[in-house]
Amino acid sequence: PGVGLRMSDAVTWMEDADLATSNSLRLPSRARWLVSVPDAPAAVEALAGASAKGLTLWVLGEGSNVVLPSQLDGLVLRVSDEDIRILEHRGDSVRLRVGAGVHWDALVHWAAERDLWGIENLALIPGSVGAAPVQNIGAYGQELASSCIRVQAVERTTGRICWLDAAACAFGYRDSRFRREPGSWVITALELSLRTRGQAEVGYAGVRDILGELGLAGASPGEMVRAISTLRRRKLPDPAQLPNAGSFFKNPVVSMATFAQLRARDQDLPGTEAGDGVKLSAAWLIERCGWRGFRRGGVGVAPQHALVLVHHGGADARALLALAADIADSVRDRFGVELEQEPTVPGEGRPSGASAPDGPGQG
Ligand code: EPU
Repeated sequence: PGVGLRMSDAVTWMEDADLATSNSLRLPSRARWLVSVPDAPAAVEALAGASAKGLTLWVLGEGSNVVLPSQLDGLVLRVSDEDIRILEHRGDSVRLRVGAGVHWDALVHWAAERDLWGIENLALIPGSVGAAPVQNIGAYGQELASSCIRVQAVERTTGRICWLDAAACAFGYRDSRFRREPGSWVITALELSLRTRGQAEVGYAGVRDILGELGLAGASPGEMVRAISTLRRRKLPDPAQLPNAGSFFKNPVVSMATFAQLRARDQDLPGTEAGDGVKLSAAWLIERCGWRGFRRGGVGVAPQHALVLVHHGGADARALLALAADIADSVRDRFGVELEQEPTVPGEGRPSGASAPDGPGQG
């Protein structure tokens, strides 16, 4: 256990904090300092403290989309605000304020219990609410961007507490301003708009089937949460049983011309339209290179899903990142397609333009 150092009434800094159980990959990691702040003003204070001591600062959520190095020589900051509040109920729309420290799936259940539509297909995504905007979490045809009105964040260079509207967040597929400006923001709360009336999003492969199998019509957000949770439990390894950070790579988007060339060689290559290009399935590419179920020492690729890298135990960030690099190399060699890493790697630069040095973790 670390030593507590009291900076003010609100915040206690812990020295030499063990982060091994604070990341879903369960990689061994220690932080020189760790602080948990209840709100934006306390975050500002912690930022000032870090800067006065010349410490690098990283923001960590639940650590479900992050590859933690063995040692983080600086301050790791977490936001503990777990408040969910209804701000306004107008017509069909309900506006919520949600603290960054709320467990994402707890919010999904909170909304479903109140029959509110908008985030039901995002059930069982690991991680915290504060991390959700960083990679604009998405699954089964839904993404955070469609219900997020604005994000409260502390601008790190100025210590200003700002509300950034959806346009300012610049959400994209698994992307946002927060991801593109690593080290610039500490997200402290979100405002979401959910709806009292809605229709289930059942277009994604497998969703109709699972509803049918469970004998559900998808008539309520609660039914969708049940169906999606069942689907995810079946398709993805549970981090509590086999430590992982969800999808380790984004699905790459290639031009129509490139897709046509690839298809000429592999006629079963899946692709979905994405803007003026085609989104490929990274899982398919990785599986085709023979990686599914592969194991090397304490790291490997999930037997259930080729996009999920796993930690069997006894390994560290270096071993995992080496495996990720080998996978990306083999996909590049065989298909000429570049895979972009999804989890962030605090304390490192941006290896092959892949990862942001910090940002709350999420899967
Ligand atoms: N596939 C394989 N091998 C596998 C797994 C999948 O070839 O081992 C192929 C199949 O053809 C399948 C296709 O890949 O039809 C798509 O698979 P899946 O439906 O599992 O979706 P995904 O594109 O691999 C994305 C997200 C997931 C999200 C699902 C469902 C990314 C990077 N990943 O995966 O997100 O749950 O769609 O919406 O966009 C996460 O971020 O941690 C995550 C799990």
